[in-house]
Amino acid sequence: MSAPVYQKTVSAPVNIAVIKYWGKRDVGLNLPSNSSLSVTLSQNDLRTLTTASCSAAFEEDSLWLNGAMESMCESPRLSVCVRELRKSRLELEAKNESLEKIANYKLRVVSENNFPTAAGLASSAAGFAAFAQAICALYELPWTPTELSRVARQGSGSACRSLFGGYVSWEMGEQPTGADSVAVQVAPVEHWPEMRVAILVVSAAKKGVSSTAGMQATVATSSLFAERARNVVPQRMVEMKNAIRARDFASFAQLTMKDSNQFHAVCLDTTPPIFYLNDTSRAIIRAVESINSSVNGYAAAYTFDAGPNAVIYFLEKDSDLVLTTLRSVTQNAEGWEKADFKPVESSEFLNLEP
Ligand code: DP6
Repeated sequence: MSAPVYQKTVSAPVNIAVIKYWGKRDVGLNLPSNSSLSVTLSQNDLRTLTTASCSAAFEEDSLWLNGAMESMCESPRLSVCVRELRKSRLELEAKNESLEKIANYKLRVVSENNFPTAAGLASSAAGFAAFAQAICALYELPWTPTELSRVARQGSGSACRSLFGGYVSWEMGEQPTGADSVAVQVAPVEHWPEMRVAILVVSAAKKGVSSTAGMQATVATSSLFAERARNVVPQRMVEMKNAIRARDFASFAQLTMKDSNQFHAVCLDTTPPIFYLNDTSRAIIRAVESINSSVNGYAAAYTFDAGPNAVIYFLEKDSDLVLTTLRSVTQNAEGWEKADFKPVESSEFLNLEP
């Protein structure tokens, strides 16, 4: 008789930060220099689907990422997550005699994105969130998402925020062990049903400088970074939470754009400087600025992560204005391909790749 295979499948969505995480105060434990806050996208838009299984018949821990096999033991980030989850399953098995003894079986994890991994979108956030969640489900660990976020954080910092829907903060915490460096939900998605997002894919190329390497260079060399982490972000976190709770789009938009700009300024202040934005990104910034001046206020907010792709937040009532302007800009500007819109349930996906 062949050995039984135990299996669980979960999915985790992408999140896009409006107050950016950039900088680690402890590289080993992956503890951030400042708190951050993000919006989780709909599962229908961008998500990772992951199945974790284990069996006495498996010979090694393995990870299949979009059809290609990766070695789990060669990745310290994956190993640390697996180690913590396994240890907790062992403790659970020791406490509960009736549980199957599966903790020491080898794991097989199969993960697929429903968007091109190469699209330069936040795939590590969804990927590590789904990875931790799938093994937690397989091991039947009675953890809250906040407890699990401590494990996902060690895979990739931004992953801890993908364990919740809606508006999510990652509180940097104070303890040297990282026990209080966890994600919490600020508000569920239903709190602000008018919120929309458009993703403008400027380039699907893999980013030149990875987030991990980029932020370490920033911490080591940028004086603007120290000022940001110490004196700017704490106040911004308070203001952003207030804006979300009050559904105050003007404040939300202002803070989102200022924080994106400061993050990219900090990258420029790094030695050697890191450039994530390109001419197309800057044209998008100008287009959003012109939308906002046309309404004498705020109808749209841009934000950029560690790459040139733009994420635009806006309210349903301004959809026509925002999407028509972005479409016409992308169609008229030299070198821009005709916009290819793929409307999805709660977001718009705009591919600007030539
Ligand atoms: C610019 O979470 O990818 O997207 O913890 O080293 O894996 P590691 O970094 P990662 O960094 C994300 C940086 C960002 C901002 C953000 O998502 O807050």
